[in-house]
Amino acid sequence: MKRYYAARAPWHDEHMGYGGNAAMEELLGPIIERVDGLLADLEVLELACGTGNWTQVLAQRARRILATDVSEATLSLAREKELAPGVVAFREADAYTLDGIPSGFTGAFAADWWSHVPRSMLAPFLEVLHGRLQPGARVVFVDMLPRDHPDLTPYRHDDEGNAICRRTLPDGSTFDVVKNFPERFWSPSPVPARRRSIRTGPSWAAGS
Ligand SMILES: C[S@@+](CC[C@H](N)C(=O)[O-])C[C@H]1O[C@@H](n2cnc3c(N)ncnc32)[C@H](O)[C@@H]1O
Repeated sequence: MKRYYAARAPWHDEHMGYGGNAAMEELLGPIIERVDGLLADLEVLELACGTGNWTQVLAQRARRILATDVSEATLSLAREKELAPGVVAFREADAYTLDGIPSGFTGAFAADWWSHVPRSMLAPFLEVLHGRLQPGARVVFVDMLPRDHPDLTPYRHDDEGNAICRRTLPDGSTFDVVKNFPERFWSPSPVPARRRSIRTGPSWAAGS
């Protein structure tokens, strides 16, 4: 995962069809509409922010955002976007440990991250995240639904049932990545019992 997205960083925005904030707002309009009010005025910890495309959307809404990713290659592209400096800060952090990340956030957000988390890592990941949040914090995950695309078509399942897709980059390099679509995979079971509520939609899930 880490190696794949670090190698893909230069092509990520083009691959996803992201081309600046106005284009993002149009491309992802219906999803943005869903999350619009959810993070308004919160102190948000963004996980796996990649090249900062959703960060620029959140920057229009949240009070402050600490946007994190494990890859310096994606973060440096995110920093180049020069997002509102008083609102957005970027920090390298592994979502499974969040080492060096302070606690006390009132919101958390991740786009296209949940589906990459192996089954065995979901509960530990959520526990670590929980430790960085204030009681009643709002957590929003946005992710993809299955569609007919070679990047999204599993060619095998591993021993713990994770769907594995083979991805090929423009330079010909190939990587195997976990892609567990939330449609089949979302279940309350890995979510700590202390959650207050969970809402899911056709392409979104929000909880507190
Ligand atoms: C599908 S991309 C999503 C990027 C961004 N959220 C977006 O919507 O464009 C997945 C991101 O997860 C990051 N990533 C991979 N492993 C990670 C980890 N253990 N902790 C934090 N980020 C990780 C990758 O570097 C990549 O930027």
